Amino acid sequence: MVKYHKKEVLKMKQIFFICVLITFILVSGCVQQTPATTEESEEKMIVIGLSLSDMRVERWQTDRDFFIERAEELGASVIAVSADLSADVQESQAENLILQGIDVLVIVANDGEKAAAIVEKANEAGIKVIAYDRLIKNSDLDYYISFDNVKVGEYEAKGVLDVVSKGDFVYLGGSPTDNNAFLVKEGTFNLLQPKIDSGDITLVLDVFNDGWKSEEAYRQLKAYLSENKKVDAVVCANDGTALGAIQALEEFGLAGKVPVSGQDASLGACQMIAEGKQTVSVYKPIKTIAYKAAEMAVAIAKGETIETKQIVNNGKVDVPSYLLDVEMVTKDTLMNTVIKDGFQSYDDIYQNIPENERPAKD
Ligand code: BGC
Repeated sequence: MVKYHKKEVLKMKQIFFICVLITFILVSGCVQQTPATTEESEEKMIVIGLSLSDMRVERWQTDRDFFIERAEELGASVIAVSADLSADVQESQAENLILQGIDVLVIVANDGEKAAAIVEKANEAGIKVIAYDRLIKNSDLDYYISFDNVKVGEYEAKGVLDVVSKGDFVYLGGSPTDNNAFLVKEGTFNLLQPKIDSGDITLVLDVFNDGWKSEEAYRQLKAYLSENKKVDAVVCANDGTALGAIQALEEFGLAGKVPVSGQDASLGACQMIAEGKQTVSVYKPIKTIAYKAAEMAVAIAKGETIETKQIVNNGKVDVPSYLLDVEMVTKDTLMNTVIKDGFQSYDDIYQNIPENERPAKD
């Protein structure tokens, strides 16, 4: 065994201590620098939570894609989740987004009343909330962006009344937990009610459809037709419910003979309009709402205040709002609405129509 002199041992201890110190300074220097850089870049990257109610309806996929496209162009990232038509799932997904540290929350509420709890939790965490397309009631909601949903309902009724203005009418109204269903109904009845009062129209069926489901609308109209056989018009609150109604009408040999309305100008509905089985839909420019909402979300995350022209009261507060305009789509206006805007393509819409029966392409 090698023996060291006391002085040597002391010197070695000093050298060892200095080495440890240098290593510590170097390592801690590196370690500190890494998080500093990460923190810096994390600070710059805005994260938006996008909570959707249901991805099965065609339009919401388009909303999501355009929203993400615009947010990313503006340098933000988006965490998008879908609640599959459950208010409880939507709430726990939103809690999760809040825990993940999102800067702003954008929600398509599955249930406009229950989602108030989400707004409260987000606000407690200092996160502002934008209600996207559907109003969230009785809460301290920060912003609301949607379309003129009353006008949507008016166009649905107008499209049908332009074809048949008397007789037995069915109303299939969409989800009773969605505030839009009530706004659309208000618009529809602005036109139907005077005719109901004068006795020209008899409202033979007036129902909501859980989750705006096509199969529910199909089942409800089929049950009615099995009993009564007679209907002169079916006013449906959206294209999904219209699809269910058209399937029921098919089974009774009535498709194409009874006017049917919808909204969203989905591809299926535009094809039905071209074929004459659906009478009217309402075109709501999805790119416009999605881009605008993404721009609002980024601005809010940067602490900017947004000026809006409209105010909508949600039962608790006046919510600064944007309500975008809509267009009526019929067989005659397919070309200069959805096709002109590139929302649906000519080839897709007319794929089931013989070439000699299609309108001129340009
Ligand atoms: C929207 C419609 C949509 C429906 C079903 C409503 O809130 O306004 O565009 O068809 O939800 O998803």
